[in-house]
Amino acid sequence: MNVPTQMQALVQRHDGYANTQTGPMIDDLSPLLTHQTIPVPTPGPGQALIKVHLAAVNPSDVHFIKGEYGQPRIKGIPAGFEAVGEVVAGDTPLVGQRVSFFASASGTWAEYAMTDVSGLVPCRPEFADVDAAGQLVNPLTAIAMFDLVRQSGADSFVLNAAGSQLGKLLIGLGRDAGIKPIAVVRRAAQGDALRALGAAEVIVSHSSDAIGAASDVFKTLKPRVLLDAVGDQFTADLFFLMPSHARWVNYGKLSTEKPALGEMGQLIFQNKVIEGFWLTRWMKQTDPTRIPQAFAEIQERFVTGQWKTDVAGIVPLSKAMADLPQVLGKPDGKAFIDARC
Ligand SMILES: NC(=O)c1ccc[n+]([C@@H]2O[C@H](COP(=O)([O-])OP(=O)(O)OC[C@H]3O[C@@H](n4cnc5c(N)ncnc54)[C@H](OP(=O)(O)O)[C@@H]3O)[C@@H](O)[C@H]2O)c1
Repeated sequence: MNVPTQMQALVQRHDGYANTQTGPMIDDLSPLLTHQTIPVPTPGPGQALIKVHLAAVNPSDVHFIKGEYGQPRIKGIPAGFEAVGEVVAGDTPLVGQRVSFFASASGTWAEYAMTDVSGLVPCRPEFADVDAAGQLVNPLTAIAMFDLVRQSGADSFVLNAAGSQLGKLLIGLGRDAGIKPIAVVRRAAQGDALRALGAAEVIVSHSSDAIGAASDVFKTLKPRVLLDAVGDQFTADLFFLMPSHARWVNYGKLSTEKPALGEMGQLIFQNKVIEGFWLTRWMKQTDPTRIPQAFAEIQERFVTGQWKTDVAGIVPLSKAMADLPQVLGKPDGKAFIDARC
């Protein structure tokens, strides 16, 4: 494939961190990004250049461009963490193949992106582009965190933001393993769809009897793990209702609330634990054989219909500055950027 010298990209306007905490919503990209024509990056030793097909837009991307994520922004470099595309150049036998990847050197909201060859994940032909574009961040996190659920030995677990893409993947894992998902959402309208997916119970955080309902469910099902992407007061209150030895695993900060921890004695006397999960750290620390196994399982689950990606909308790269915020605001699905148009 002939690689041009110039490409379209959504380029970051700022370096470093913003020291704010405003959540994953955004209504105007222009203070943070510009649509520019920039040189196509040249891969160095151990790197690959990928022609991007479809990039998934995750909450972590929005936190990142706002300067609110766990790694600093670099001014002048395209944004976007994960995508699917074709390897067009680099130090790898995968040139010509369709791969999912996490861009470590030049971001995915561009016609071309660059990453380390060790991070390329070849895709089965029947694995759809919308599933492949989001193969790394959410599915791998779901599999990694579900290992914690299995290790707990309980036959139920609690998850919030349960209507998120990641929440739905976790519900599917619980359903298939016979470990009952207790789904927490803020909108009652999501309840039926999540029960149909496999949620054993649905707790609506904004309902007047939410704490009483959770208390009854926890007494019956005795969950030991709370997988939390929200980090609000309701989640803290839920954790202190859970039985002894419960583990609160925070992996996202969708809420801007600062929860008060009212029952710290439970950490001492009931052996309860509060901890964080970050996929980036897990990938460095886990047994390296676990990761290719996980990708095989992920592709199998999507191809056989055990998992699916709900799509809120696909925005052309050329129109993303104007159209992406509106698609990000739609409920119950993922936004994507099509880098081919
Ligand atoms: N730590 C890690 O390594 C890691 C890896 C992957 C993902 N994550 C995190 O996982 C979370 C889910 O990601 P995703 O891609 O699956 O998200 P998504 O599909 O974009 O869905 C976002 C969800 O967040 C909910 N939400 C937003 N603000 C909320 C709030 N203030 N209170 C309660 N719920 C709220 C939305 O609920 P409504 O439908 O009610 O709007 C929606 O269900 C994100 O926080 C992401 O950063 C972390």
